[in-house]
Amino acid sequence: MASTCKSSGSPAIQTRFLRKLFGEKVAVKSLTLEVSPGEAFGFLGPNGAGKSTSVKMLLGLVTPTGGEARILGFPAGNVEARRKVGFLPEHFRFYDWLSAEELLLFHGRLYGMAGSELYRRVPELLELVGLAPHRRRRLRDFSKGMMQRIGLAQALLNKPDLIILDEPTSGLDPAGRRLVRDIIKAERSRGAAVFLNSHLLGEVEVTCDRVAFIKHGEVIETRSLQPNGENATSFRIRAGNLRPEMLAGLERWAKGIQLHDGELSFSVISSESIPEIIRYLVAGGANVYEVTPQHLSLEDLFVQIVGPDGGL
Ligand SMILES: Nc1ncnc2c1ncn2[C@@H]1O[C@H](COP(=O)(O)OP(=O)(O)OP(=O)(O)O)[C@@H](O)[C@H]1O
Ligand SMILES: [Mg+2]
Repeated sequence: MASTCKSSGSPAIQTRFLRKLFGEKVAVKSLTLEVSPGEAFGFLGPNGAGKSTSVKMLLGLVTPTGGEARILGFPAGNVEARRKVGFLPEHFRFYDWLSAEELLLFHGRLYGMAGSELYRRVPELLELVGLAPHRRRRLRDFSKGMMQRIGLAQALLNKPDLIILDEPTSGLDPAGRRLVRDIIKAERSRGAAVFLNSHLLGEVEVTCDRVAFIKHGEVIETRSLQPNGENATSFRIRAGNLRPEMLAGLERWAKGIQLHDGELSFSVISSESIPEIIRYLVAGGANVYEVTPQHLSLEDLFVQIVGPDGGL
């Protein structure tokens, strides 16, 4: 039977103005975010945005220059909290003379697991990640995707309350990617929070409840994702008598405003502002015939929010 998480009501992750400088280089400018228990949270941003550095600060592997970070109600890096966290690093090196089974036994002992608990858990995880037939093979003979799979198993050993995955699907074949998706779903239904760094937005879209977009070490926007993948925030309005001078007034609600052949297109933070936009257009003398939501993929949203150049 699946076990459930025992963590208190504290947020799984909470940061305020978290900051990291490497010399003069600002890796994380000012990160403020909160992840609830049991939530699957996507942490998205272009290369070099500060995602991995933020994760390392949460785990106490990098010392912040400023700000605060708490995980599961404890200060980041606290040993008690680390026992309840599973972590798959972006780049990891395991002792490659160990076999897959030995590695999990070793990491299990580091988590304080022993006896029948550990000897039951290890084969269960090897089975889960598809490595049971290779349990006696040394890691030095593993392919990239096999290493990623053993890394995932290692991150789940302690039945964590919070799982932090930094690019978990890198190097995985389609079946492996599906496996990650299924694992995230299963861990969430067990009550664990999942914090996911990934550039594979299609996967984030189907697994996460909420996402934060980060750029230059700052959260520039957070969004809830709809379970059906319909994250409509762009709209088209077909209307007569639209005058160009009305467009500037729309900027208080909308971005990316364009007018072509009597058709207005724009995006909004929330569809709540649509009635106000229509009232505004009608008051300005426009005849509104049709309002059509445009369904954006997470990738479209990423480009719209972060910008096409990614901001490197
Ligand atoms: N140990 C370090 N010393 C100096 N600079 C660093 C160090 N680690 C990261 N940086 C710099 O901090 C910035 C953020 O790096 P980080 O690895 O957090 O980005 P990321 O968002 O995880 O990127 P990616 O999507 O490519 O994994 C980058 O400019 C990087 O060069
Ligand atoms: Mg990274």
